[in-house]
Amino acid sequence: MLLRTRLAAAMSGILLAAVVAGCGSGDDVGSGSGSGSAADDGKITLGFSQVGAESGWRTANTKSIQESAAAAGIDLKFADAQQQQANQIKAIRSYIAQKVDVIAFSPVVETGWDAVLQEAKAANIPVILTDRAVDSKDTSLYKSFLGSDFVVEGQKAGDWLVNEYKDKPGPVNIVVLEGTTGSAPANDRKSGFDEKIKADPKFKVIASQTGEFTRAKGKEVMEAFLKANPKIDVLYAHNDDMGLGAIEAIEAAGKKPGTDIKIITVDAVHDGMQALADGKINYIVECSPLLGPQLMDLVKKVKAGEPVQQRILTEETTFTQAQAKEALPTRKY
Ligand code: AHR
Repeated sequence: MLLRTRLAAAMSGILLAAVVAGCGSGDDVGSGSGSGSAADDGKITLGFSQVGAESGWRTANTKSIQESAAAAGIDLKFADAQQQQANQIKAIRSYIAQKVDVIAFSPVVETGWDAVLQEAKAANIPVILTDRAVDSKDTSLYKSFLGSDFVVEGQKAGDWLVNEYKDKPGPVNIVVLEGTTGSAPANDRKSGFDEKIKADPKFKVIASQTGEFTRAKGKEVMEAFLKANPKIDVLYAHNDDMGLGAIEAIEAAGKKPGTDIKIITVDAVHDGMQALADGKINYIVECSPLLGPQLMDLVKKVKAGEPVQQRILTEETTFTQAQAKEALPTRKY
């Protein structure tokens, strides 16, 4: 009996340690101590919670963060949340328990972060937001937010469309593949785009649904759009991957992407740029995933107690088909 009790106590101890060290989801591929507590070798330890691996953009972003951490000599603890907010909260709590020096994360959705960020603040661990914002009134919960202006990205997409159809009669039937529901890029890319097209009633959004930022879901939703709507003039996809999935659906339906249906996407990852150069996409608004070097600079400054800007905007451009052909040979992602 006594032996069984001891065994049970030992097992529950092991289980607790596993939850704290492993974040309960994805891989914790920290390049550093791996001991379940922050490094004691003088290196800065950064706990990073990534959204997932849903898109080419995300893969390039993860690579940028991992390579930059290694180059900066920062001990990186990395967890993939598989697009689940609960997994991100678990990972952040694990980083707090491990007493990392700095926590950074790209929030899968905008709302619901105050409680866990209060916990980080109470533990005196500074937090940096990368890529996506949180919708919180208390800006003291994080030191800085590094990333794109998604509203501007949506506006750029809308501007291109308005210009493209300026001398053409309506109606212009638009379908939209939205990003992850509740995420900052889905919310903001929609509002920026809507703001630009609403001035002219000839632009009609006839269907709009999430494609969860993935190629597979983009294809599936586009198939349904095509079945339900005999006349689609334009597809606006909140990222390249959903646009690329939609291209497969359009071709399978016997239509020519880029010609029969004009396509606008966001990101400008390599596969998207190739489709743009091939004439299957008409316009791409760039969103840069290469946030690693700036993030590591921020981590060092925050750890040293130096002041940092609360908002750091990423520099971005847009691409036409001709510009994509020119840019492709030297494109980094
Ligand atoms: O938050 C950035 C967005 O997330 C990218 O546009 C998209 O591809 C990714 O999944």
